[in-house]
Amino acid sequence: MKMNAKFISSYDDYKKCIETKTPEYAFIGRSNVGKSSLINSITGVKNLAMTSSKPGKTQLINLFNIEDTWILADLPGYGFAKASQSSRIKWGRMVHDYLKNRSNLTNVFLLVDSRHEPMKSDLEQISWLASNGIPFSLILTKVDKMSTSQTNINVAKWVAELNKNWEELPKMFITSSESGKGKEELLTYIAEINKQILN
Ligand code: GTP
Ligand code: MG
Repeated sequence: MKMNAKFISSYDDYKKCIETKTPEYAFIGRSNVGKSSLINSITGVKNLAMTSSKPGKTQLINLFNIEDTWILADLPGYGFAKASQSSRIKWGRMVHDYLKNRSNLTNVFLLVDSRHEPMKSDLEQISWLASNGIPFSLILTKVDKMSTSQTNINVAKWVAELNKNWEELPKMFITSSESGKGKEELLTYIAEINKQILN
């Protein structure tokens, strides 16, 4: 199914983003984890967000209007090995300032590669989100690249890791932009939050 999804604009600073009360959902995660691809997959609009096999493709805050009901924010990734120190600092400022200050931001989805065990950089982002009181959910991406048993092992590792610090686990989704797995669950979750906000 193809949604009515339109690119709004790109911004290098949250202060320049369109002012709106529309609920906004942000995709964050390491470079190359599949943030932009998942945006194309869940909306059913090919090439809505630009993707690349090379990490570091998304460089700005990109906003997309979805069904005139909610906004998706595609953000640049972190943990890009070749990134210079100055670009890392710039990333931190742009993304973290956006996440802390965007008043209509409703939920953050932290995307992690399902093929890896919990990584330090992802756990650091989780701590940062938690300490700033920003609600988030976890998305394990690219599950088409792994067997179900291997996916389950990595899910269990995430659960064990999160159980160390969380009484109630964040919501977790398992997705593939190739097969569309997890798409309906994710869209239903967003729709439920939107409904709560409207009521
Ligand atoms: P940055 O913009 O650099 O932060 O990366 P990103 O997280 O937006 O990643 P992007 O969506 O550009 O995807 C990176 C690469 O992973 C591309 O080659 C995609 O085709 C591939 N990819 C993304 N999602 C999936 C998936 O679910 N399955 C498979 N097999 N490949 C995927
Ligand atoms: Mg991207």
